[in-house]
Formats: sequence, structure tokens, C-alpha cells
Amino acid sequence: MHTSSTPPGGTWTLGDLTVTRVGYGAMRLAGPGVMGPPADHEGALAVLREAADLGITHIDTAGAYGPRVTNRLIREALRPAAGKPPHIVTKVGAVRDADGGWPPARRPEELRRAVEENLEDLGLDALDVVNLRLGDATGPREGSLAEPFEALAALRDEGLVRHLGVSNATPAQVAEARSLAPLVCVQNLYNLAHRGDDALVDELAAAGIAYVPFFPLGGFTPLQSTTLSAVAGRLGATPMSVALAWLLRRSPNILLIPGTSSVAHLRENVAGAGLELPEAERAALDGIAG
Ligand SMILES: NC(=O)c1ccc[n+]([C@@H]2O[C@H](COP(=O)([O-])OP(=O)(O)OC[C@H]3O[C@@H](n4cnc5c(N)ncnc54)[C@H](OP(=O)(O)O)[C@@H]3O)[C@@H](O)[C@H]2O)c1
Repeated sequence: MHTSSTPPGGTWTLGDLTVTRVGYGAMRLAGPGVMGPPADHEGALAVLREAADLGITHIDTAGAYGPRVTNRLIREALRPAAGKPPHIVTKVGAVRDADGGWPPARRPEELRRAVEENLEDLGLDALDVVNLRLGDATGPREGSLAEPFEALAALRDEGLVRHLGVSNATPAQVAEARSLAPLVCVQNLYNLAHRGDDALVDELAAAGIAYVPFFPLGGFTPLQSTTLSAVAGRLGATPMSVALAWLLRRSPNILLIPGTSSVAHLRENVAGAGLELPEAERAALDGIAG
């Protein structure tokens, strides 16, 4: 059943693609450690269908999730759906090893193979947005992205990719990417407690480029703060809702992709992002990152 209205925060335009600012991050749909299939296949499909029913039109994924698990779930859950399917933003530039690690795979031939696998698994002729994932599992690493980013831009010129983004990138790499080809989004670690990208968020807002925080709820280490709990208590809301509502109001170019494997949490997160934050509470939350 399609029951959607636009989720809180309205929409943003990635290149020529309009997406809801409240999106969904599919990484949690894979098995433990983001490896293998989910324990509950039908449950995973239900989360994706609920996202579409809630009106979400931005789903974040990667071929490395599973690997090749979340993309196939997205295809199974959403492609046959009546109406317009959501826009899918995927990532290339890392693969999985036998231990569940995320080694880089950024040579031009590796990027082409990754794009082709994403197309096959998602059942698409062109990928809406592809992020080049940089750095490593510990975070961004300085260094030129020219070779891999130009390789991706060539795949865009071929028509296999519509728009380009970068992920896990330093400000210098974002600037270099922008000098090489149009950039529609940057996906980096950012949340109430990790605000190292504050200046980058504002710079990208001025340039009309989306900033998409990964780990908006703290990722594998859920956000915990006495201030966050106190604000949530005063507002009669959950800390997760407050964290998402704060991000949505931080800057108009911020797009949310909270991850969950639970329909109930997905509903809570979409509703929670719309929570009103009085000015005094926002000021208290701004102080968390110190
Ligand atoms: N570019 C990159 O390098 C990169 C890295 C990491 C992630 N990402 C992307 O970012 C997305 C978001 O990251 P993430 O999923 O790792 O972290 P997250 O959104 O910060 O947090 C997800 C965690 O919070 C829990 N959760 C979600 N909603 C909840 C609620 N309402 N109440 C209680 N717990 C809740 C989830 O558990 P339940 O399943 O139990 O709800 C899960 O453990 C991913 O899906 C992925 O698409 C990108």
C-alpha cells in the first residue's frame, strides 16, 4: 500500500534528481558485520518497502554491503513496485576480503567492474549517483583522487552513471574532485558528537552540493551524551529523534540516511526527524561537540 507524503525536511536536488532530505541507509540489511544475507529476508524487504511507503526517495547502498546483498534486496523489494522507484545512491572504491575487511579497489578497471556489478544487481541501465569511497576503515587519508575520480567521470560520460559524489573524503580531496567534474554530494562521518566537517558542510551548502552524514546515529557506537538524553527527556522524545532532527536543521544541504533493519525504527526515525527543536535546546545540542 502506498501511503506516502513527503517526509520532514522536504526535498533536495542531486544534479537533476529530486530526493527527500530524509532518506534511508541500507547497510544494516546485510548479515552481521555487513557480510552475507540477512537472517530475516522478508523482514529486510519489508523495511525497504516501508521506506518507499513513507515517501522516501533516497536510498543509500553499496556493492560492498554483503557484498552484493543490499543491492539485490533493493532490486527485489522496489523494482517491481508500482509508481516511481526511489533514487539509489551507491558507492564504489572498496571491496570486501575474507575477514570482512574493506580493502580499497580504486584502479580504473576495478571501478568499472564495481559499476557493472551495481548495475546488474540493482537491475538498472544507469546508476543515479555513485560515490567514490576514499580513505580506509579508519577514516579519510590525504592524497590525490585524480586517477579514480577521472575514471568514474569517464563512466559517467559513457552514460553508466548520472552523477558523482565522494565519500570518506578530506576537504582537499573534495576541492580536487570539484575541479575535475561536477560533484553532487559528499558522504562523510558527521553527527552531533563528530563535527570535524562543520566548515565543509557550510562550504558545500554555499555551492549547492549535498552533505550526507554517515553514522548519523553514531553507527556501530550509538550516540551517547548526557546532554542529548536531557534534551530528549525535556522534549519527550528519543535521543535518536533529537539527533536526526538536529542534523536536519543543521544545514539545508544535509540529507539523512539513518540505517536500520527494523520497520519500527524506520518509522520512528522518519517521524523523529520532524521533531521541533526550540532554540535553547538547539544551543544545548550545539555544545555537545565542545
Ligand atoms: N560512506 C561510508 O563509508 C559509510 C560508512 C558507514 C555507513 N554508511 C552509510 O550510512 C548509513 C547509516 O550508517 P549506519 O547504519 O552504519 O549508522 P547509523 O544510522 O548511525 O546507526 C544505525 C544503528 O542505529 C540503530 N538504530 C537505528 N534507528 C534506531 C532507533 N530508532 N532506535 C534505536 N536504534 C536505532 C540501528 O539498529 P537497528 O537495525 O536495530 O535499528 C543500527 O545499529 C548506512 O546504512 C550506509 O548506507 C556509509
